Amino acid sequence: MDFKTLISNRISEKVNIPVKDIEKMIEIPPKPEMGDFAFPCFQLAKTMRKAPNLIAQELKNSIDSQGFEKIETVGAYLNFFVDKGILSSSTIEKILSEGKSYGNSNIGEGKNVIVEFSSPNIAKPFHVGHLCSTAIGNALYKIISSQGYNTIAINHLGDWGTQFGKLIAAFKWVDEEALEKEPIKELLRIYVKFHEEAEKDPSLEDLGRLHFKRLEDGCEEETSLWQKIKDVSLKEFNRIYDMLNVKFDSFAGESFYSDKMDEVVEILEDKGLLTESKGALVVNLDEYNMPPCIIKKSDGATIYATRDLAAAIYRKRTYDFYKNIYVVGSDQSLHFRQIFATLKLAGFDWADDCVHVAFGLVKFADKKLSTRKGDVIFLEDLLNEGISRARAAIEEKNPSLENKEDVAKKVGIGAVIFTYLKNNRERDIVFNWDDILSFDGETGPYIQYSYARGRSILGKATGFSGTPDYNKLNSKEEFELVKLLGGLNDAILSAIDKYEPSILSRYIIDVAKAFNKFYNLYPIISCEDVGLKAARLKLVESTTIVIKKVLSLLGIDVVEKM
Ligand code: ARG
Repeated sequence: MDFKTLISNRISEKVNIPVKDIEKMIEIPPKPEMGDFAFPCFQLAKTMRKAPNLIAQELKNSIDSQGFEKIETVGAYLNFFVDKGILSSSTIEKILSEGKSYGNSNIGEGKNVIVEFSSPNIAKPFHVGHLCSTAIGNALYKIISSQGYNTIAINHLGDWGTQFGKLIAAFKWVDEEALEKEPIKELLRIYVKFHEEAEKDPSLEDLGRLHFKRLEDGCEEETSLWQKIKDVSLKEFNRIYDMLNVKFDSFAGESFYSDKMDEVVEILEDKGLLTESKGALVVNLDEYNMPPCIIKKSDGATIYATRDLAAAIYRKRTYDFYKNIYVVGSDQSLHFRQIFATLKLAGFDWADDCVHVAFGLVKFADKKLSTRKGDVIFLEDLLNEGISRARAAIEEKNPSLENKEDVAKKVGIGAVIFTYLKNNRERDIVFNWDDILSFDGETGPYIQYSYARGRSILGKATGFSGTPDYNKLNSKEEFELVKLLGGLNDAILSAIDKYEPSILSRYIIDVAKAFNKFYNLYPIISCEDVGLKAARLKLVESTTIVIKKVLSLLGIDVVEKM
Protein backbone atom coordinates (compact mmCIF):
# COMPACT_ATOMS: atom_id res chain seq x y z
CA MET A 1 0.00 0.00 0.00
CA ASP A 2 1.33 3.44 -0.72
CA PHE A 3 1.65 6.02 2.00
CA LYS A 4 -1.13 8.23 0.78
CA THR A 5 -3.59 5.38 1.09
CA LEU A 6 -2.11 4.33 4.41
CA ILE A 7 -2.49 7.82 5.87
CA SER A 8 -6.01 8.15 4.47
CA ASN A 9 -7.01 4.83 6.00
CA ARG A 10 -5.70 5.76 9.39
CA ILE A 11 -7.35 9.18 9.41
CA SER A 12 -10.58 7.77 8.03
CA GLU A 13 -10.82 5.29 10.93
CA LYS A 14 -10.65 8.14 13.40
CA VAL A 15 -12.97 10.68 11.84
CA ASN A 16 -15.58 8.59 10.11
CA ILE A 17 -15.16 10.06 6.63
CA PRO A 18 -14.67 7.84 3.57
CA VAL A 19 -11.05 7.07 2.65
CA LYS A 20 -11.59 8.40 -0.88
CA ASP A 21 -12.55 11.84 0.44
CA ILE A 22 -9.65 11.98 2.87
CA GLU A 23 -7.26 11.01 0.08
CA LYS A 24 -8.28 14.05 -1.93
CA MET A 25 -7.39 16.35 0.95
CA ILE A 26 -3.86 15.06 1.41
CA GLU A 27 -1.18 17.43 0.18
CA ILE A 28 2.51 17.19 -0.61
CA PRO A 29 4.23 19.92 1.45
CA PRO A 30 6.32 22.39 -0.54
CA LYS A 31 9.43 21.81 1.58
CA PRO A 32 10.90 18.56 2.92
CA GLU A 33 11.23 20.12 6.41
CA MET A 34 7.45 20.15 6.50
CA GLY A 35 7.19 16.42 6.08
CA ASP A 36 6.40 14.12 3.17
CA PHE A 37 2.63 14.36 3.37
CA ALA A 38 0.36 16.84 5.04
CA PHE A 39 -3.27 16.71 6.07
CA PRO A 40 -5.04 20.04 6.58
CA CYS A 41 -7.91 19.85 9.06
CA PHE A 42 -9.92 22.87 7.90
CA GLN A 43 -12.56 20.88 6.08
CA LEU A 44 -13.09 18.54 9.04
CA ALA A 45 -13.57 21.56 11.28
CA LYS A 46 -16.87 22.31 9.58
CA THR A 47 -18.42 18.88 10.06
CA MET A 48 -16.86 18.22 13.46
CA ARG A 49 -17.60 21.70 14.81
CA LYS A 50 -14.21 21.98 16.43
CA ALA A 51 -11.21 24.23 15.90
CA PRO A 52 -9.01 22.80 13.12
CA ASN A 53 -5.79 22.91 15.18
CA LEU A 54 -7.53 21.04 17.97
CA ILE A 55 -8.54 18.32 15.53
CA ALA A 56 -4.96 18.13 14.26
CA GLN A 57 -3.70 17.74 17.82
CA GLU A 58 -6.21 15.02 18.67
CA LEU A 59 -5.46 13.10 15.52
CA LYS A 60 -1.77 13.26 16.21
CA ASN A 61 -2.29 11.72 19.64
CA SER A 62 -4.64 8.98 18.57
CA ILE A 63 -3.35 7.89 15.17
CA ASP A 64 -1.25 4.75 14.73
CA SER A 65 2.24 5.99 13.86
CA GLN A 66 3.74 2.75 12.68
CA GLY A 67 5.63 3.27 9.41
CA PHE A 68 6.40 6.90 10.24
CA GLU A 69 9.48 8.53 11.63
CA LYS A 70 7.25 11.08 13.27
CA ILE A 71 3.95 12.89 12.95
CA GLU A 72 3.85 16.59 13.82
CA THR A 73 1.26 19.29 13.95
CA VAL A 74 1.76 22.81 12.72
CA GLY A 75 -1.39 24.81 13.29
CA ALA A 76 -4.22 23.03 11.50
CA TYR A 77 -1.82 20.78 9.62
CA LEU A 78 -0.86 17.26 10.43
CA ASN A 79 2.57 16.61 8.92
CA PHE A 80 3.72 13.07 8.26
CA PHE A 81 7.39 12.13 8.07
CA VAL A 82 7.49 8.68 6.59
CA ASP A 83 9.98 5.99 7.43
CA LYS A 84 12.47 6.47 4.60
CA GLY A 85 13.42 2.82 4.28
CA ILE A 86 9.80 1.75 3.95
CA LEU A 87 8.98 4.50 1.47
CA SER A 88 12.03 3.70 -0.64
CA SER A 89 11.42 -0.01 -0.72
CA SER A 90 7.71 0.27 -1.42
CA THR A 91 8.20 2.87 -4.18
CA ILE A 92 11.07 1.11 -5.89
CA GLU A 93 9.53 -2.36 -5.64
CA LYS A 94 6.31 -1.00 -7.12
CA ILE A 95 8.10 0.59 -10.07
CA LEU A 96 10.15 -2.50 -10.76
CA SER A 97 7.22 -4.84 -10.59
CA GLU A 98 4.88 -2.69 -12.67
CA GLY A 99 7.50 -1.74 -15.25
CA LYS A 100 6.13 0.15 -18.19
CA SER A 101 2.63 0.27 -16.75
CA TYR A 102 3.88 2.10 -13.66
CA GLY A 103 1.90 5.34 -13.35
CA ASN A 104 -1.18 3.91 -15.08
CA SER A 105 -4.61 3.51 -13.53
CA ASN A 106 -8.11 2.62 -14.66
CA ILE A 107 -9.99 5.62 -13.33
CA GLY A 108 -11.19 6.39 -16.86
CA GLU A 109 -12.64 2.97 -17.56
CA GLY A 110 -15.82 3.10 -19.60
CA LYS A 111 -15.37 6.73 -20.60
CA ASN A 112 -14.72 7.88 -24.16
CA VAL A 113 -12.49 10.86 -24.69
CA ILE A 114 -11.94 12.45 -28.09
CA VAL A 115 -8.68 14.25 -28.67
CA GLU A 116 -8.78 16.20 -31.91
CA PHE A 117 -5.36 17.44 -32.94
CA SER A 118 -3.04 18.36 -35.79
CA SER A 119 -5.85 19.06 -38.32
CA PRO A 120 -3.79 20.67 -41.11
CA ASN A 121 -5.37 22.09 -44.22
CA ILE A 122 -4.84 20.06 -47.34
CA ALA A 123 -3.06 21.77 -50.22
CA LYS A 124 -1.51 24.11 -47.70
CA PRO A 125 1.71 23.79 -45.72
CA PHE A 126 1.67 21.92 -42.48
CA HIS A 127 2.95 24.81 -40.40
CA VAL A 128 4.52 25.10 -36.97
CA GLY A 129 1.15 25.77 -35.38
CA HIS A 130 -0.02 22.39 -36.65
CA LEU A 131 3.17 20.83 -35.31
CA CYS A 132 2.44 22.37 -31.94
CA SER A 133 -1.08 20.95 -32.04
CA THR A 134 0.33 17.59 -33.11
CA ALA A 135 2.85 17.45 -30.26
CA ILE A 136 0.43 18.59 -27.55
CA GLY A 137 -2.48 16.53 -28.87
CA ASN A 138 -0.48 13.35 -29.26
CA ALA A 139 0.88 13.74 -25.74
CA LEU A 140 -2.58 14.36 -24.28
CA TYR A 141 -3.91 11.37 -26.18
CA LYS A 142 -1.27 9.11 -24.65
CA ILE A 143 -1.44 10.64 -21.18
CA ILE A 144 -5.23 10.30 -21.03
CA SER A 145 -5.11 6.75 -22.42
CA SER A 146 -2.75 5.74 -19.61
CA GLN A 147 -5.56 6.21 -17.10
CA GLY A 148 -7.88 3.70 -18.72
CA TYR A 149 -9.97 6.11 -20.78
CA ASN A 150 -10.97 4.94 -24.21
CA THR A 151 -9.35 7.65 -26.31
CA ILE A 152 -10.06 8.50 -29.94
CA ALA A 153 -7.54 10.54 -31.92
CA ILE A 154 -9.21 12.58 -34.64
CA ASN A 155 -7.53 14.57 -37.37
CA HIS A 156 -10.10 17.17 -38.45
CA LEU A 157 -8.52 17.78 -41.84
CA GLY A 158 -9.22 21.09 -43.50
CA ASP A 159 -10.34 19.50 -46.74
CA TRP A 160 -13.46 21.47 -47.63
CA GLY A 161 -14.33 25.06 -48.44
CA THR A 162 -14.37 27.58 -51.26
CA GLN A 163 -10.58 27.49 -51.66
CA PHE A 164 -10.93 24.08 -53.30
CA GLY A 165 -12.96 25.64 -56.08
CA LYS A 166 -10.06 28.00 -56.70
CA LEU A 167 -7.53 25.20 -56.66
CA ILE A 168 -9.57 23.24 -59.15
CA ALA A 169 -9.75 26.30 -61.40
CA ALA A 170 -5.97 26.69 -61.05
CA PHE A 171 -5.25 23.06 -61.75
CA LYS A 172 -4.70 23.76 -65.44
CA TRP A 173 -1.34 25.33 -64.46
CA VAL A 174 -0.13 22.36 -62.49
CA ASP A 175 3.18 20.74 -63.27
CA GLU A 176 2.45 17.04 -62.76
CA GLU A 177 6.05 16.15 -62.11
CA ALA A 178 6.42 18.79 -59.42
CA LEU A 179 3.09 17.69 -57.96
CA GLU A 180 4.42 14.18 -57.64
CA LYS A 181 7.67 15.30 -56.01
CA GLU A 182 6.64 18.15 -53.72
CA PRO A 183 2.87 18.27 -53.80
CA ILE A 184 2.23 20.98 -51.22
CA LYS A 185 4.78 23.35 -52.73
CA GLU A 186 3.27 22.88 -56.16
CA LEU A 187 -0.30 23.30 -54.94
CA LEU A 188 0.74 26.41 -53.08
CA ARG A 189 2.36 27.74 -56.25
CA ILE A 190 -0.78 27.37 -58.36
CA TYR A 191 -2.93 28.77 -55.56
CA VAL A 192 -0.78 31.89 -55.43
CA LYS A 193 -0.87 32.10 -59.22
CA PHE A 194 -4.66 31.90 -59.13
CA HIS A 195 -4.80 35.01 -56.96
CA GLU A 196 -2.34 36.87 -59.18
CA GLU A 197 -4.32 36.00 -62.31
CA ALA A 198 -7.62 36.85 -60.65
CA GLU A 199 -6.34 40.37 -60.00
CA LYS A 200 -6.15 40.78 -63.76
CA ASP A 201 -9.20 38.73 -64.62
CA PRO A 202 -11.92 38.83 -61.93
CA SER A 203 -14.05 36.25 -63.76
CA LEU A 204 -11.66 33.63 -62.41
CA GLU A 205 -13.21 34.11 -58.98
CA ASP A 206 -16.59 33.21 -60.41
CA LEU A 207 -15.08 30.16 -62.02
CA GLY A 208 -13.68 29.12 -58.64
CA ARG A 209 -17.09 29.54 -57.01
CA LEU A 210 -18.69 27.52 -59.77
CA HIS A 211 -16.21 24.68 -59.29
CA PHE A 212 -16.85 24.62 -55.55
CA LYS A 213 -20.59 24.57 -56.12
CA ARG A 214 -20.14 21.65 -58.49
CA LEU A 215 -17.89 19.94 -55.95
CA GLU A 216 -20.59 20.34 -53.32
CA ASP A 217 -23.12 18.90 -55.75
CA GLY A 218 -20.89 15.88 -56.25
CA CYS A 219 -19.93 16.46 -59.90
CA GLU A 220 -17.51 13.84 -61.04
CA GLU A 221 -14.75 15.93 -62.55
CA GLU A 222 -14.40 18.22 -59.53
CA THR A 223 -14.69 15.38 -57.09
CA SER A 224 -11.90 13.41 -58.68
CA LEU A 225 -9.57 16.43 -58.81
CA TRP A 226 -10.35 17.20 -55.19
CA GLN A 227 -9.63 13.58 -54.26
CA LYS A 228 -6.31 13.78 -56.05
CA ILE A 229 -5.36 16.98 -54.21
CA LYS A 230 -6.31 15.31 -50.96
CA ASP A 231 -4.36 12.13 -51.71
CA VAL A 232 -1.12 13.89 -52.57
CA SER A 233 -1.40 16.17 -49.54
CA LEU A 234 -2.06 13.27 -47.20
CA LYS A 235 0.93 11.43 -48.59
CA GLU A 236 3.07 14.35 -47.52
CA PHE A 237 1.41 14.73 -44.12
CA ASN A 238 1.78 11.03 -43.46
CA ARG A 239 5.50 11.33 -43.98
CA ILE A 240 5.59 13.83 -41.15
CA TYR A 241 3.33 11.70 -38.95
CA ASP A 242 5.67 8.77 -39.56
CA MET A 243 8.68 10.84 -38.55
CA LEU A 244 6.87 11.84 -35.37
CA ASN A 245 5.38 8.39 -34.85
CA VAL A 246 1.87 9.82 -34.54
CA LYS A 247 -1.24 7.80 -35.37
CA PHE A 248 -4.90 8.73 -35.73
CA ASP A 249 -8.03 6.69 -35.27
CA SER A 250 -9.99 8.87 -37.65
CA PHE A 251 -9.29 11.32 -40.44
CA ALA A 252 -12.85 12.60 -40.59
CA GLY A 253 -12.17 16.17 -41.64
CA GLU A 254 -14.36 19.00 -42.83
CA SER A 255 -15.48 17.28 -46.04
CA PHE A 256 -16.84 14.40 -43.98
CA TYR A 257 -19.56 16.73 -42.74
CA SER A 258 -20.50 18.20 -46.11
CA ASP A 259 -23.68 16.12 -46.19
CA LYS A 260 -24.45 16.59 -42.50
CA MET A 261 -24.98 20.32 -42.47
CA ASP A 262 -28.58 20.59 -43.60
CA GLU A 263 -29.50 18.91 -40.35
CA VAL A 264 -27.58 21.51 -38.35
CA VAL A 265 -29.46 24.27 -40.10
CA GLU A 266 -32.75 22.46 -39.42
CA ILE A 267 -31.99 22.00 -35.74
CA LEU A 268 -31.11 25.65 -35.30
CA GLU A 269 -34.17 26.65 -37.31
CA ASP A 270 -36.45 24.46 -35.16
CA LYS A 271 -35.13 26.05 -32.01
CA GLY A 272 -35.81 29.46 -33.49
CA LEU A 273 -32.17 30.42 -33.24
CA LEU A 274 -31.53 31.51 -36.82
CA THR A 275 -31.81 35.14 -37.75
CA GLU A 276 -30.94 36.96 -40.94
CA SER A 277 -28.16 39.47 -41.00
CA LYS A 278 -27.06 41.13 -44.26
CA GLY A 279 -28.33 38.17 -46.21
CA ALA A 280 -26.52 35.63 -44.06
CA LEU A 281 -28.08 33.25 -41.54
CA VAL A 282 -26.61 33.68 -38.08
CA VAL A 283 -27.11 32.66 -34.45
CA ASN A 284 -27.22 35.69 -32.23
CA LEU A 285 -24.87 35.39 -29.27
CA ASP A 286 -25.49 38.74 -27.59
CA GLU A 287 -26.32 37.08 -24.30
CA TYR A 288 -22.83 35.60 -24.30
CA ASN A 289 -21.27 38.90 -25.28
CA MET A 290 -19.97 37.46 -28.50
CA PRO A 291 -20.41 38.34 -32.15
CA PRO A 292 -22.98 36.17 -33.95
CA CYS A 293 -22.03 32.72 -35.20
CA ILE A 294 -22.46 32.66 -38.98
CA ILE A 295 -24.15 29.50 -40.21
CA LYS A 296 -24.76 30.24 -43.88
CA LYS A 297 -23.21 32.96 -45.94
CA SER A 298 -25.31 35.21 -48.16
CA ASP A 299 -24.58 32.95 -51.15
CA GLY A 300 -25.99 30.01 -49.22
CA ALA A 301 -22.61 28.38 -48.61
CA THR A 302 -21.92 26.84 -45.24
CA ILE A 303 -18.67 27.61 -43.50
CA TYR A 304 -16.02 26.36 -41.10
CA ALA A 305 -18.28 27.00 -38.08
CA THR A 306 -21.22 25.06 -39.55
CA ARG A 307 -18.95 22.10 -40.14
CA ASP A 308 -17.72 22.26 -36.56
CA LEU A 309 -21.29 22.21 -35.28
CA ALA A 310 -22.06 19.19 -37.45
CA ALA A 311 -18.84 17.52 -36.27
CA ALA A 312 -19.62 18.01 -32.58
CA ILE A 313 -23.13 16.58 -32.98
CA TYR A 314 -21.81 13.65 -34.99
CA ARG A 315 -19.12 12.92 -32.41
CA LYS A 316 -21.60 12.92 -29.55
CA ARG A 317 -23.80 10.44 -31.41
CA THR A 318 -20.96 8.23 -32.57
CA TYR A 319 -18.72 8.19 -29.51
CA ASP A 320 -20.98 9.40 -26.72
CA PHE A 321 -17.95 11.25 -25.43
CA TYR A 322 -17.15 12.10 -21.86
CA LYS A 323 -14.88 14.88 -23.12
CA ASN A 324 -14.43 16.25 -26.63
CA ILE A 325 -11.07 18.00 -26.74
CA TYR A 326 -9.87 20.36 -29.48
CA VAL A 327 -6.14 21.09 -29.54
CA VAL A 328 -6.05 24.26 -31.64
CA GLY A 329 -4.13 27.55 -31.41
CA SER A 330 -5.44 30.31 -29.16
CA ASP A 331 -6.13 32.48 -32.23
CA GLN A 332 -9.28 30.35 -32.64
CA SER A 333 -10.56 30.83 -29.09
CA LEU A 334 -13.47 32.99 -30.13
CA HIS A 335 -14.47 30.48 -32.79
CA PHE A 336 -14.70 27.67 -30.24
CA ARG A 337 -16.49 29.78 -27.67
CA GLN A 338 -19.06 30.59 -30.37
CA ILE A 339 -19.45 26.93 -31.32
CA PHE A 340 -19.90 25.79 -27.73
CA ALA A 341 -22.34 28.61 -26.97
CA THR A 342 -24.40 27.82 -30.07
CA LEU A 343 -24.60 24.15 -29.09
CA LYS A 344 -25.66 25.15 -25.62
CA LEU A 345 -28.40 27.42 -26.98
CA ALA A 346 -29.58 24.56 -29.15
CA GLY A 347 -30.16 22.57 -25.97
CA PHE A 348 -27.13 20.30 -26.12
CA ASP A 349 -25.97 20.30 -22.53
CA TRP A 350 -22.99 18.17 -23.44
CA ALA A 351 -21.54 21.38 -24.93
CA ASP A 352 -20.04 21.74 -21.45
CA ASP A 353 -17.95 18.64 -22.11
CA CYS A 354 -16.30 20.23 -25.13
CA VAL A 355 -12.92 21.73 -24.35
CA HIS A 356 -10.72 24.00 -26.40
CA VAL A 357 -7.13 23.26 -25.41
CA ALA A 358 -5.41 26.36 -26.72
CA PHE A 359 -1.74 27.08 -27.23
CA GLY A 360 0.34 30.17 -28.01
CA LEU A 361 2.42 31.21 -30.96
CA VAL A 362 5.73 29.81 -32.07
CA LYS A 363 8.37 32.41 -32.75
CA PHE A 364 11.75 31.87 -34.31
CA ALA A 365 14.94 33.29 -32.97
CA ASP A 366 16.62 32.02 -36.11
CA LYS A 367 15.69 34.42 -38.93
CA LYS A 368 16.85 32.12 -41.68
CA LEU A 369 14.13 29.65 -40.89
CA SER A 370 11.21 31.99 -41.03
CA THR A 371 12.01 33.59 -44.34
CA ARG A 372 12.81 30.63 -46.52
CA LYS A 373 9.60 30.76 -48.48
CA GLY A 374 7.47 33.72 -47.70
CA ASP A 375 6.34 33.34 -44.13
CA VAL A 376 6.02 29.64 -44.28
CA ILE A 377 8.33 27.23 -42.58
CA PHE A 378 8.26 23.82 -44.10
CA LEU A 379 7.96 21.43 -41.30
CA GLU A 380 10.04 18.67 -42.75
CA ASP A 381 12.85 21.19 -43.10
CA LEU A 382 12.47 22.00 -39.44
CA LEU A 383 12.60 18.37 -38.33
CA ASN A 384 15.48 17.63 -40.66
CA GLU A 385 17.39 20.58 -39.31
CA GLY A 386 16.91 19.18 -35.80
CA ILE A 387 18.19 15.80 -36.94
CA SER A 388 21.26 17.20 -38.66
CA ARG A 389 22.17 19.32 -35.66
CA ALA A 390 21.81 16.30 -33.40
CA ARG A 391 24.00 14.35 -35.84
CA ALA A 392 26.67 17.04 -35.63
CA ALA A 393 26.55 17.06 -31.83
CA ILE A 394 26.97 13.28 -31.71
CA GLU A 395 29.80 13.43 -34.23
CA GLU A 396 31.56 15.81 -31.89
CA LYS A 397 30.83 14.15 -28.55
CA ASN A 398 30.76 10.47 -29.34
CA PRO A 399 32.02 9.75 -32.87
CA SER A 400 32.31 6.01 -32.36
CA LEU A 401 28.66 5.54 -31.32
CA GLU A 402 26.80 2.73 -33.07
CA ASN A 403 23.48 3.47 -34.83
CA LYS A 404 24.40 7.13 -35.12
CA GLU A 405 21.69 7.84 -37.65
CA ASP A 406 18.93 6.35 -35.54
CA VAL A 407 20.14 8.21 -32.45
CA ALA A 408 20.33 11.50 -34.38
CA LYS A 409 16.74 11.04 -35.50
CA LYS A 410 15.42 10.28 -32.05
CA VAL A 411 17.39 13.05 -30.40
CA GLY A 412 16.71 15.69 -33.07
CA ILE A 413 12.99 15.03 -33.26
CA GLY A 414 12.71 14.51 -29.51
CA ALA A 415 14.35 17.89 -28.97
CA VAL A 416 11.78 19.62 -31.17
CA ILE A 417 8.83 17.87 -29.53
CA PHE A 418 10.12 18.55 -26.03
CA THR A 419 10.42 22.25 -26.83
CA TYR A 420 6.74 22.34 -27.66
CA LEU A 421 5.78 20.54 -24.50
CA LYS A 422 8.10 22.15 -22.03
CA ASN A 423 6.27 25.33 -21.15
CA ASN A 424 2.78 26.18 -20.16
CA ARG A 425 0.97 25.72 -23.45
CA GLU A 426 -0.58 29.18 -23.59
CA ARG A 427 2.79 30.84 -23.47
CA ASP A 428 4.46 31.73 -26.74
CA ILE A 429 7.43 29.58 -27.67
CA VAL A 430 10.68 31.06 -28.88
CA PHE A 431 12.48 28.55 -30.97
CA ASN A 432 16.23 28.69 -30.67
CA TRP A 433 18.30 25.76 -31.90
CA ASP A 434 21.18 26.12 -29.47
CA ASP A 435 18.88 26.03 -26.46
CA ILE A 436 16.81 23.20 -27.81
CA LEU A 437 19.66 20.83 -28.50
CA SER A 438 21.82 21.58 -25.50
CA PHE A 439 22.67 18.41 -23.59
CA ASP A 440 22.65 20.14 -20.24
CA GLY A 441 19.76 22.56 -20.27
CA GLU A 442 16.12 21.71 -19.62
CA THR A 443 15.86 19.93 -22.93
CA GLY A 444 14.80 16.71 -24.58
CA PRO A 445 18.41 15.64 -25.17
CA TYR A 446 19.19 16.24 -21.48
CA ILE A 447 16.41 13.86 -20.46
CA GLN A 448 17.42 11.28 -23.07
CA TYR A 449 21.01 11.60 -21.93
CA SER A 450 20.03 10.98 -18.30
CA TYR A 451 18.25 7.83 -19.40
CA ALA A 452 21.28 6.64 -21.38
CA ARG A 453 23.50 7.35 -18.35
CA GLY A 454 21.27 5.21 -16.19
CA ARG A 455 21.29 2.40 -18.72
CA SER A 456 25.03 2.52 -18.96
CA ILE A 457 25.42 2.28 -15.17
CA LEU A 458 23.11 -0.73 -15.19
CA GLY A 459 25.12 -2.23 -18.04
CA LYS A 460 28.28 -1.98 -16.00
CA ALA A 461 26.61 -3.84 -13.15
CA THR A 462 25.63 -6.93 -15.11
CA GLY A 463 26.60 -9.97 -13.17
CA PHE A 464 26.39 -8.21 -9.82
CA SER A 465 23.89 -9.57 -7.40
CA GLY A 466 23.11 -8.56 -3.86
CA THR A 467 20.07 -7.98 -1.70
CA PRO A 468 19.10 -4.31 -1.62
CA ASP A 469 19.03 -2.71 1.80
CA TYR A 470 16.68 0.22 1.27
CA ASN A 471 17.22 1.55 4.78
CA LYS A 472 20.61 2.66 3.58
CA LEU A 473 19.23 4.95 0.88
CA ASN A 474 19.06 7.65 3.48
CA SER A 475 20.82 10.65 1.95
CA LYS A 476 18.76 13.71 1.19
CA GLU A 477 19.41 13.32 -2.55
CA GLU A 478 18.43 9.68 -2.73
CA PHE A 479 15.29 10.24 -0.76
CA GLU A 480 14.28 13.24 -2.89
CA LEU A 481 14.68 11.12 -6.02
CA VAL A 482 12.61 8.30 -4.54
CA LYS A 483 9.84 10.70 -3.61
CA LEU A 484 9.82 12.21 -7.07
CA LEU A 485 9.58 8.79 -8.68
CA GLY A 486 6.68 7.99 -6.38
CA GLY A 487 4.81 11.05 -7.64
CA LEU A 488 4.37 9.98 -11.27
CA ASN A 489 0.68 9.17 -11.06
CA ASP A 490 -0.09 12.47 -9.33
CA ALA A 491 1.77 14.33 -12.08
CA ILE A 492 -0.18 12.47 -14.76
CA LEU A 493 -3.52 13.18 -13.11
CA SER A 494 -2.73 16.83 -12.75
CA ALA A 495 -1.61 17.00 -16.41
CA ILE A 496 -4.99 15.55 -17.40
CA ASP A 497 -6.89 17.82 -15.08
CA LYS A 498 -5.35 20.92 -16.66
CA TYR A 499 -4.90 19.49 -20.17
CA GLU A 500 -1.28 20.43 -19.73
CA PRO A 501 1.48 18.05 -20.89
CA SER A 502 4.06 20.53 -19.58
CA ILE A 503 3.28 19.29 -16.07
CA LEU A 504 4.82 16.00 -17.11
CA SER A 505 7.74 17.66 -18.91
CA ARG A 506 8.54 19.69 -15.81
CA TYR A 507 8.16 16.58 -13.72
CA ILE A 508 10.65 14.64 -15.81
CA ILE A 509 13.11 17.55 -15.80
CA ASP A 510 12.96 17.42 -11.98
CA VAL A 511 13.51 13.67 -12.02
CA ALA A 512 16.49 13.99 -14.36
CA LYS A 513 18.01 16.75 -12.25
CA ALA A 514 17.57 14.77 -9.04
CA PHE A 515 19.03 11.71 -10.73
CA ASN A 516 22.10 13.62 -11.94
CA LYS A 517 22.67 15.04 -8.48
CA PHE A 518 22.43 11.58 -6.98
CA TYR A 519 24.87 9.82 -9.26
CA ASN A 520 27.36 12.67 -9.22
CA LEU A 521 27.49 12.62 -5.44
CA TYR A 522 27.41 8.94 -4.58
CA PRO A 523 29.35 5.95 -5.86
CA ILE A 524 27.19 3.28 -7.39
CA ILE A 525 29.32 0.74 -9.24
CA SER A 526 32.24 1.31 -6.89
CA CYS A 527 30.12 1.35 -3.74
CA GLU A 528 31.61 -1.16 -1.31
CA ASP A 529 28.57 -1.85 0.81
CA VAL A 530 26.74 -4.61 -1.08
CA GLY A 531 23.29 -3.85 0.34
CA LEU A 532 23.62 -0.16 -0.44
CA LYS A 533 25.06 -0.81 -3.88
CA ALA A 534 22.14 -3.11 -4.71
CA ALA A 535 19.65 -0.53 -3.46
CA ARG A 536 21.29 2.25 -5.49
CA LEU A 537 21.20 0.08 -8.60
CA LYS A 538 17.49 -0.52 -8.08
CA LEU A 539 17.03 3.20 -7.71
CA VAL A 540 18.84 3.76 -11.02
CA GLU A 541 16.72 1.11 -12.69
CA SER A 542 13.50 2.66 -11.38
CA THR A 543 14.61 6.04 -12.64
CA THR A 544 15.21 4.69 -16.15
CA ILE A 545 11.76 3.08 -16.11
CA VAL A 546 10.13 6.37 -15.12
CA ILE A 547 12.05 8.44 -17.67
CA LYS A 548 11.21 6.03 -20.46
CA LYS A 549 7.57 5.98 -19.43
CA VAL A 550 7.21 9.75 -19.28
CA LEU A 551 9.04 10.31 -22.57
CA SER A 552 6.81 7.75 -24.23
CA LEU A 553 3.73 9.56 -22.90
CA LEU A 554 5.13 12.73 -24.43
CA GLY A 555 5.71 10.98 -27.76
CA ILE A 556 9.51 10.91 -27.49
CA ASP A 557 11.78 7.89 -27.91
CA VAL A 558 14.67 7.00 -25.65
CA VAL A 559 18.08 5.83 -26.85
CA GLU A 560 20.20 3.30 -25.01
CA LYS A 561 23.43 5.12 -25.78
CA MET A 562 24.26 8.60 -26.92
N1 ARG B 1 -7.72 23.26 -40.13
C1 ARG B 1 -7.77 24.30 -39.14
C2 ARG B 1 -6.58 25.23 -39.29
O1 ARG B 1 -5.58 24.84 -39.80
C3 ARG B 1 -7.76 23.75 -37.74
C4 ARG B 1 -8.93 22.89 -37.41
C5 ARG B 1 -9.25 22.91 -35.98
N2 ARG B 1 -10.32 22.04 -35.60
C6 ARG B 1 -11.60 22.32 -35.68
N3 ARG B 1 -12.46 21.41 -35.29
N4 ARG B 1 -12.04 23.46 -36.13
O2 ARG B 1 -6.67 26.38 -38.89
